[in-house]
Amino acid sequence: MAKKENKIKIRSMGIYLPEKILTNADLEKMVETSDEWITTRTGIKERRIAREDEVTSDLGVVAAREALEKGGLQPQDVDLILVATNTPDTIFPSTACWIQKKLGVSEIPAFDLQAGCTGLLYGMIVAEGLILSGSLNRVLLIGVDILSKVTNWEDRSTCVLFGDGAGALILEKSEDESGMLSHFWGAEGSLGELLMLPGGGTLHPTSEETLRDKMHYIYMKGNEVFKHAVKRMGEAALEGLERAGLDKAQVDYLIPHQANFRIIDATRERLNLSPEKVVVNVDRYGNMSVATIPVALYELAESGKLKKGNIIVMVAFGAGFTWASIVYRW
Ligand code: UT7
Repeated sequence: MAKKENKIKIRSMGIYLPEKILTNADLEKMVETSDEWITTRTGIKERRIAREDEVTSDLGVVAAREALEKGGLQPQDVDLILVATNTPDTIFPSTACWIQKKLGVSEIPAFDLQAGCTGLLYGMIVAEGLILSGSLNRVLLIGVDILSKVTNWEDRSTCVLFGDGAGALILEKSEDESGMLSHFWGAEGSLGELLMLPGGGTLHPTSEETLRDKMHYIYMKGNEVFKHAVKRMGEAALEGLERAGLDKAQVDYLIPHQANFRIIDATRERLNLSPEKVVVNVDRYGNMSVATIPVALYELAESGKLKKGNIIVMVAFGAGFTWASIVYRW
């Protein structure tokens, strides 16, 4: 095994989940669907929905404040604010800059990274490069999405799937054995049209036509995306393990992106893991896009189950398409 001398680690974490809960029973009153269909096809029971007056930076800043507080840090102690999101407050400036303002600091560089649901893992990989090159010491990475504001609530094929949430990580150089052991990332731009938000960008600037055709909402060819997600997540998890010089049998926890329980379970089978080793919260939160992995990791750590030295595999797939895995020693 090629032992990695320099690693980054998670110093502390924070999350934010909106209070409002939307259940499958609520959705039965909104579109032609059933709790039975949603549960068997996706595993989702309920999801959180942001208030109308809450924007992406509002969710992100709460998670960020908790991560800073748990790490015993002030906002000015970080060298970069990096936000992974697909649903920014505004096309520009970046949500990272809005969060910098809400944290009451200035000067600290801030930018957004957009990589579909894979954004949190892409963000960790970018932060690792910046920290290990010596260009900065500490990154505040926030993964946040408010998909409810870009969901067509009349489209039953998508509106039952998504939820809102945020997670934040403080990343810095590790001084011991813990930290990021390996990463693997990839993308396939030729398949981008299978999952997209077509309107409002330069391809289809907002107009009466784009509004009429509901192009400001998520469009997804679900069953096509499903097949690619199953394939890529399994492959990425195995490749990440190989790069870390570890075997499937050494995995203590799998934290997969939470889009659909069937995709999670297929990834688990690919790694021959027992169900207790897989972190699942899609039942409670639906698909929160970038926020699924940090919220799952936070909840696993808070549960007290994680032990020092445990091997965690995080793996995600999303719009782009993009995919990535990170193998991490706690
Ligand atoms: O976050 C990263 C990317 N996202 C994903 O990874 C999501 C990947 N895709 C999926 O999770 C699944 O494809 C879905 C959950 C979206 C859909 O499940 P599916 O088993 O692929 O169903 P389907 O789209 O093939 O639709 C099957 C049937 C259709 O009816 P017909 O044509 O067979 O009569 C749909 O019209 O289910 C119908 N349907 C629904 N019925 C009740 C679709 N949505 C609903 C609904 N309630 N909400």
